[in-house]
Amino acid sequence: MKKAMIQYPGLAGKIVFNTGAASGIGLAMAHAFASQGASLMLLDIDEASLLKAKAVLEEAYPTVRVEIFVGSITDPKALDAAAEQTIKTFGRLDVLLNNAGISMNKPALDITPDEWRRAIDIDLSGIFFCCQAAARRMIHNGGGVILATASMWGLVSSARRSAYCAAKAGVVSLCKSLAVEWAEHHIRVNAICPGYIQTALVSDLVSRGVLDEQALHARTPLGRMGTPEEVAHTALYLASDLAGFITGHAMVIDGGWTADGY
Ligand SMILES: NC(=O)c1ccc[n+]([C@@H]2O[C@H](COP(=O)([O-])OP(=O)(O)OC[C@H]3O[C@@H](n4cnc5c(N)ncnc54)[C@H](O)[C@@H]3O)[C@@H](O)[C@H]2O)c1
Repeated sequence: MKKAMIQYPGLAGKIVFNTGAASGIGLAMAHAFASQGASLMLLDIDEASLLKAKAVLEEAYPTVRVEIFVGSITDPKALDAAAEQTIKTFGRLDVLLNNAGISMNKPALDITPDEWRRAIDIDLSGIFFCCQAAARRMIHNGGGVILATASMWGLVSSARRSAYCAAKAGVVSLCKSLAVEWAEHHIRVNAICPGYIQTALVSDLVSRGVLDEQALHARTPLGRMGTPEEVAHTALYLASDLAGFITGHAMVIDGGWTADGY
């Protein structure tokens, strides 16, 4: 994403903690928030891609400070350390982009206990631990914004996705619960629910024959996949002052997939 086409109110100067930021939707979000003049703390388990993302962002947005933290969202101690490093570096933490996640497409009868636990650990528990680590700091700021990248599979379900659907439905419910609980701290919490988006996660499933790209296009009323930049723009809006009265919401960005019950 190049320079901002639109300036969203309330984002310049904000400190953004972005997980899964080395690739796909998280990386597009990093570009989008940098384009608004926000500073970035990027977390991912993939150190090489994280370093590359930092270099590209610093070149594209020379006035924006970009810091990185290598760690897993399944590790509450690492998340606490990352949030603390954000405070030490930037003095505050305003926005959490709770985005890291993995796919899990497998028939329910074939999922091993380790595979089930890994999907829930990363796609649900990791999201909760990030919320805790960030909100503990946001409370000291007098508020903040948390956005979780859930999925349309958190709102509707499908065969061979039981762990993923359960985790993402959990994320949608978690966002609603935390939105209510933390409203008194002026922390807004919302879920973003993308349909199929062109990222490495989907390319990998297509290349392994798990997903059929043409069938996905045909099933989507708008006839294509979404782009990471389109999801990033949704995050800009929800994090901005324009969305100041939106909390506990699950916003779908799926080209009409979930609207089509046929
Ligand atoms: N691409 C889609 O079609 C789609 C649709 C709906 C929801 N989502 C969700 O969007 C989010 C981002 O997906 P994407 O498509 O950009 O995938 P991606 O694979 O391109 O990026 C995911 C990033 O998360 C990182 N990551 C994975 N496990 C981690 C962990 N334990 N700790 C820290 N970082 C970790 C990876 O290293 C990677 O950089 C995920 O939560 C995914 O479930 C994606």
